[in-house]
Amino acid sequence: MQATAFASLPYAVPNQCRRFEGQVAIVTGAAQGLGRAIAHRLGQEGASVVVADIQGERAERTAKQLCDELGDRFVSFAGDLSEAGIADRMASETKERFGRIDALVNNAAALIRLKLVDMSEELLQKGVQWNVWNTLRCSKAVLPVMLEQKYGRIVNIGGEAWRTGFPFHTILAGVGKGSMVGLTATLAGEVLRDGITVNCVSPGGIETAADGDPDPLPPSGFRDPSWNPPEVMQAMAEAAKARGQAGGIGRLAHPSEIAAAVAFFASRESSFVTGQHIGVSGGMAML
Ligand SMILES: NC(=O)c1ccc[n+]([C@@H]2O[C@H](COP(=O)([O-])OP(=O)(O)OC[C@H]3O[C@@H](n4cnc5c(N)ncnc54)[C@H](O)[C@@H]3O)[C@@H](O)[C@H]2O)c1
Repeated sequence: MQATAFASLPYAVPNQCRRFEGQVAIVTGAAQGLGRAIAHRLGQEGASVVVADIQGERAERTAKQLCDELGDRFVSFAGDLSEAGIADRMASETKERFGRIDALVNNAAALIRLKLVDMSEELLQKGVQWNVWNTLRCSKAVLPVMLEQKYGRIVNIGGEAWRTGFPFHTILAGVGKGSMVGLTATLAGEVLRDGITVNCVSPGGIETAADGDPDPLPPSGFRDPSWNPPEVMQAMAEAAKARGQAGGIGRLAHPSEIAAAVAFFASRESSFVTGQHIGVSGGMAML
């Protein structure tokens, strides 16, 4: 069935750790794709996980699927995390229900790929809103809890296109992921002596449909087709070919390969690493 359909499947990273027993993690944008794979990984290692997403029904369904597979430790949270007040509610409900927040993974993003010159004012506003403000608001919302605990892990999901200057990525990567890297360093500096680390993991291309969902909904989800028109996808493929960087080592990542790196930064094991950015992109960009 689905198990043989994905080219990246032979590269799936098996979990051999239980680093999150008794811990609580929030993963944003976890209804599908990479976020789902991260929620799966952290839950598999023992965490209670809040599956937070603007797609409420899909988040609920994902949390239920993960509960069925791994145990009753996943709950969903529905809302647009870029809007004022929503992330605060997510943090307070998480604290109320589980008593603590050990890790926040800022994964939610809106994959909008267009030339800047072709973006409407409305899409420009939304692009910044959905690619910058969720991370700011979610980080701000969990910090009081983490400061009180004197422990916390914030992992920001970036993307390599910000440092490869890849076309059609000005809002998604230039603004969204570039600011994610800057925010990682400056926020890490703010909480350096508070037991909280902040790091950034940047994927290249991921075969996100291989996220383990046994019953995938139509792929559109939050990705409006007009944000990634076919001619842009075609031009991107040509640009990648011309640059000889179709994924560095030459294939898409299995989502578990990214989730494995995220789990390290979200765990106690990364205690002496903060303010760092790592590309998990098959060598698409180096250093
Ligand atoms: N797919 C790739 O090849 C790739 C490459 C590099 C980086 N990334 C990054 O990885 C992350 C996940 O990507 P993906 O491919 O799984 O994307 P996706 O579109 O499948 O998933 C993103 C999720 O975030 C949710 N979301 C978006 N805005 C939200 C908001 N304001 N509030 C709450 N939820 C919101 C969406 O509903 C969706 O479920 C993103 O940060 C993306 O930029 C992906």
